[in-house]
This record gives sequence, structure tokens and C-alpha cells, in this order.
Amino acid sequence: MIKNIAVIRGDCIGPEIMEQTVAVLDKVAEKFGHTFIYKEAPMGGEAIDKFGEPLPQSSLDTCLQSDSVRLSAVGGPKWDSVPKEKRPEAGLLRLRSAMGLYANIRPAKLFDELREASPLKPSITQNGIDFVVVRELIGGAYFGEHKTEKLDGEFYAQDIMGYSEHEIERIAHVAFQTARKRRKSVCSVDKANVLDSSKLWRKTVTKVAENYPDVRLSHMYVDNCAMQIVRDPSQFDVIVTENLFGDILSDEASMITGSIGMIPSSSLGDGTRGLYEPIHGSAPDIAGTNAANPIGMILSAAMMLRYSFNMLEEAKAVEDAVDAVLKAGFRTGDMISEGKIQLGCREIGREICFRI
Ligand code: IPM
Ligand code: MG
Repeated sequence: MIKNIAVIRGDCIGPEIMEQTVAVLDKVAEKFGHTFIYKEAPMGGEAIDKFGEPLPQSSLDTCLQSDSVRLSAVGGPKWDSVPKEKRPEAGLLRLRSAMGLYANIRPAKLFDELREASPLKPSITQNGIDFVVVRELIGGAYFGEHKTEKLDGEFYAQDIMGYSEHEIERIAHVAFQTARKRRKSVCSVDKANVLDSSKLWRKTVTKVAENYPDVRLSHMYVDNCAMQIVRDPSQFDVIVTENLFGDILSDEASMITGSIGMIPSSSLGDGTRGLYEPIHGSAPDIAGTNAANPIGMILSAAMMLRYSFNMLEEAKAVEDAVDAVLKAGFRTGDMISEGKIQLGCREIGREICFRI
């Protein structure tokens, strides 16, 4: 198969982990007889430096014309002082919205090999951690009206958090369908005791659930959910929630698995074209030192193979290679523990390629 892949190399550690991911994809192409054609689409800090804006039209066009988009991570202190609408994050939000990527899937999985790296006590992790956060990605407070004004002699700012029924329905369908392929349980997270948008969320998710009688639906308030994730994460299979709650809960969920550097994510809309990225940031403190963990990024390539290209065997080959590297005792600095062998970003990438 021939696939066109838009590549957003990103900022800080971005290019380093992208290089390893492209090497892994090239290995997959060689082994399974595919051709992957990469086209660069600068976005974020790199694009601000080159074009004066975080998402130039040419990059957006490249993404929209591709079969899928690979993204590492954008942003860094260098661009912290640019105005909000020109920040790297603004480019990412515009890209998500322009591509119609309303469903963001973020798995939280405790790898057996990394059990000791979880900050939770063994008595809590003993039942395992294996759930996914299905986060609504192009609605809510992120995309509602933002306003800062002077009112009665002081500044007043607001961000409107709103949802329409169809926005809730489509993400609810994604959650139920995801659960069907897993342990058939959806926990919908909201703040329906306070927010109107959450009341509509709960009502709409409950209605969509009628189409999935085989899936168990429960509801939880977001504050309680934040607590339950550290109290007993094994209770969750699929968590579905709105954009801002999902942003916060997915960071919490990744932390309890031991290394935020290991977790991939996918963002999809109605078609098969997706945006695949690790969930971690651009780690400016270790940029250029070959210390970054490329595994989250490489596992997101596996997600791309599976979900956008329907290359199931290929995806599994990548995941198995990652497992094998961990089993062999190789670790990057962020997940090192006693008795394991510390390697750099390039070397971990090479070990993974070798095992594909
Ligand atoms: C994420 C990030 C982004 C978000 C930022 C960089 C805009 O935190 O992907 O979770 O809030 O969605
Ligand atoms: Mg986030």
C-alpha cells in the first residue's frame, strides 16, 4: 500500500522522537512491502520562526491532503511571550478543528514491565490499569467565545463552555463503540450537579446508550473521577468526557502508569484520517540531549497503522517490538529503575527497529 503521511516535526525534543518514529515506519514499510511518503508540515514554534504563524495554510493543506498526520510535540519557552493567537498551541487547536478531529483517544495502560515505575502503591496497581479516556476535542471551553474586557475598572475574562446535542452524540458513539471492543463499560464524566452543559451531556449520553444495550453505562462527577483514578483505577474501562475535563483527567491517567513518555494518542473525526501524537509535551529541558523517550511517539505510529491504515499485523509488530525492548531491560532515563539498562532516544529507536 502507498500512504501519504504529513509530518509535523515539532519543537524541542519533537524532531528527535520523530526521527526514530520515521525509522520505525520505514522498517515496517520494508518488512511488509508498503511505501510511506512523508511530507513535512511545519506547525508550532518551528512555523512561527519560519512563517510568523503557528499553522500556515500550506501546512494545513498538506495535512488535509494526507492519509494521516504524525505529530510529535509543539511549544517551548522560546514562544511563551508571543500573543495567544500566535502561540504554538493555537496552531494545534486550529489543526484539530480544521481536520474535524472530535474524538481523542488516550489509553492509560500499566505495562507489566514498568509496574515499579507507577507512583501508586502496589496494593492499588495489583489489579492492573487498563482504560482509555475518550476526550471530546473540538468543543467546550476551548472553542467557546473567549473574551477579556475592562469592567468597572478591572479586567474581566470569560471562556464559554458550550455543547450542542450532536457534538455530544457523536463522541458518545465513539465511546460506546470503543467499549464494545474492550470490557464493555463506559463511565461518562461530567459536572451535572452544577453545569448546564453537563446536564445536557448526561442526558444525551444516556439517550445514545439505548443503541448499545450490551455496554454498561455509569455516570460520575469529574471531581470524584479525579479521586477514583488514584483510588482504584482498575474500575475503569472507557471514560468519556468533554474537552477540558478530558485534558486534565488524561494527564492524571498517564501519570499513574509510570511514564507519561509511553502513552500514545489518536484523534479522529468521521473519516479514517487521523492525527497521531504522544500525549507528553515538548520537554524543553532535555531537548537535544538524546535523552527523550520515543516510545509514546512510536506507539502512536502503531495506532496510526491500525486505525487509519487498517494495518493490524503491522501495528502489532511495532507494539511487540516495544514490548520486547522493555523485556530486554532497556529504558530511557524517565523510566529507569534498578537493574535496568539506560539508553538514549536513538538507541531505543534502533533496538525497536531491530526487533521489527
Ligand atoms: C493536550 C495539550 C493541549 C490541550 C495544549 C497543548 C493546547 O495539553 O493535547 O492535552 O490542552 O489540548
Ligand atoms: Mg493536555
